[in-house]
Amino acid sequence: MSDDPTREPRRFARAALERDDPTGWFEDLYSAAAGGEAVIPWDRGSANPLLSEWFEASEPNGTGRAAVVIGAGTGWDAELVADRGYQTTAFDISPTAVETAQRNHPDSQVQYVVADLLDQPAEWHHAFDLVVEIYTVQALPIPLQPSAVQKVGDLVAPGGTLVVIASSRAEGQPDAEVEGPPWPLTRATLESFASAPDLRLIELEASPSPTDPTSKRWRAEFLRD
Ligand SMILES: C[S@@+](CC[C@H](N)C(=O)[O-])C[C@H]1O[C@@H](n2cnc3c(N)ncnc32)[C@H](O)[C@@H]1O
Repeated sequence: MSDDPTREPRRFARAALERDDPTGWFEDLYSAAAGGEAVIPWDRGSANPLLSEWFEASEPNGTGRAAVVIGAGTGWDAELVADRGYQTTAFDISPTAVETAQRNHPDSQVQYVVADLLDQPAEWHHAFDLVVEIYTVQALPIPLQPSAVQKVGDLVAPGGTLVVIASSRAEGQPDAEVEGPPWPLTRATLESFASAPDLRLIELEASPSPTDPTSKRWRAEFLRD
């Protein structure tokens, strides 16, 4: 295994992109990690600090409400959401990620399922009072991002909240110069989550990354009328 935790993911990603399967590398990576042959670079063993801060500041009451965590990976963010009282669904395109999340959290109240953001179940349309999207859209190549953004918004119920956390791309950096994964999001992409006329941007903050103060992270909150 390499000392650089991003090397294996990039190798898997490059191979998948070459075979025109832009989401196929996630399962390759999670199954290699399950076999001890790779590490998941985004698995920090705890919830995202920007999500924890959002909960502390907003103090939403999840009782009797439904939440969904997109691209839930190993489950730490979903567990935080469930701890706040939400009936929580967490999905990932990688079956091994879902198995890993279930193994990490054996007493969980979260319903972990395999699903594709880009081809989500019809019954999820406008179904969730809280939608949490962290680093999934930016893990998709730039041409897929507009469709992914729209699918994220589709999950939000009337009166519901969407929280998006993403890496920020340097202002003015052209698409062609972004060597993903990841493909960090521009301000315009963040704002495009509010393309549906009833989904409004309430707050957009850029703060230094908790792990790398030289780069920025977006945290945005949207509300559906
Ligand atoms: C960069 S990781 C972030 C994981 C987690 N959200 C976090 O912040 O730790 C992106 C995750 O999205 C999942 N994913 C990628 N494309 C997806 C899709 N189309 N539908 C569902 N999950 C997807 C990957 O398997 C991976 O777990």
